[in-house]
Amino acid sequence: MQNGKFKIHLLPNNITFLCRENETILDAALRAGIELPHGCTKGGCGVCKIKVKGKVEFGRVSKVMLTDEEKENGFCLSCRAIPLEDIQISLVDGSPARVVRYDEFYSFLFKTRTNL
Ligand code: FES
Repeated sequence: MQNGKFKIHLLPNNITFLCRENETILDAALRAGIELPHGCTKGGCGVCKIKVKGKVEFGRVSKVMLTDEEKENGFCLSCRAIPLEDIQISLVDGSPARVVRYDEFYSFLFKTRTNL
């Protein structure tokens, strides 16, 4: 399936969120309440560079900010990259991403606090 609805697994947070058809990784993350680093959102600054395992469509990006070698070595710009299958991502430095709101997390908290 091309540009379908795929799962994005974020490490080391170990959480999964869904990407809509033709949605970039960054847009899917922000919609899910996960704050991936970003700047211009147009493929020109490189702030949103992440590591990715799995096939993505890289989109139109600055060749300075994302070289062909980086593409071959599992990097992409999250503001432009669109998953072509279920993928796994992580920040370049390996640190956890900031989670502002994550529905399953809140649902877990709710269940824990209310003993439901
Ligand atoms: S946010 Fe600038 S290249 Fe993605």
